Amino acid sequence: MQLMSCSASASWQSMANYYEAPDIAPWAQSLVKIIRGSLYGLENLRLDVYSESSIPRDVFQQCFNLIESNLKHLYRQSALGWSSVDKQEEMREQGLIYVTLSQHEHHATRVLGFVSFMHTEENGEDVVYCYEIQLASRIQGLGVGKSLMQVVESYAAHCAAPKCMLTVFSANRAVEFYRKIGYTLAENSPQDRKLRNGVSKPSYYILEKAVQHAGV
Ligand SMILES: CC(C)(COP(=O)(O)OP(=O)(O)OC[C@H]1O[C@@H](n2cnc3c(N)ncnc32)[C@H](O)[C@@H]1OP(=O)(O)O)[C@@H](O)C(=O)NCCC(=O)NCCS
Repeated sequence: MQLMSCSASASWQSMANYYEAPDIAPWAQSLVKIIRGSLYGLENLRLDVYSESSIPRDVFQQCFNLIESNLKHLYRQSALGWSSVDKQEEMREQGLIYVTLSQHEHHATRVLGFVSFMHTEENGEDVVYCYEIQLASRIQGLGVGKSLMQVVESYAAHCAAPKCMLTVFSANRAVEFYRKIGYTLAENSPQDRKLRNGVSKPSYYILEKAVQHAGV
């Protein structure tokens, strides 16, 4: 697996003044192209790729803040509970790659969304596991999530990993998002149980999607 030791950046000043950055990883180029169309109206956007060790402290903190504001309530509802320390430890897991979408305004960079993932093994299978995908509420529903997941899938194709996997709380509306973009229940996922008086859902699902490789 190819790991990055430093960040590569692509930035563009507006939708009109977009320019390709030559140093962005090839598997992230799809995001550069797709987001250009889907975020019309947002200016001074920037795309960065980091490893868990190269991500700047402030960017890391903003990613954490997005997780906290989007998902803390779901963690609290679950048996896991919410722990900032545990979450930050998980976010520092060796081998994680972060792709962040930010807006640069008034000398400050604001992270609007990010995806983090890792090439790893799950039950003896070679997979790319998506750890987090988080968008600020103002950019949800614009197709950015789908584009970020395409980056994860391009990375899996780049690594020749046959599938992408992820975990999602069953109570999260994102389950429907994943279903729409082609993710299905993994064999090792907890399953819904049919009861006499309804359906009992597990706390979380494990989802997967086969990766299309060039020439397949
Ligand atoms: C989940 C999330 C990443 C989705 O990204 P997004 O940019 O809002 O979704 P997109 O606009 O790319 O949607 C892609 C498709 O999924 C559908 N979709 C997205 N969210 C949906 C929802 N809650 N319910 C039903 N469909 C949904 C869209 O309608 C779209 O379908 P279409 O292609 O037929 O138009 C984003 O909403 C988010 O960050 N949510 C909060 C954090 C979170 O829950 N992360 C997942 C943790 S596992």
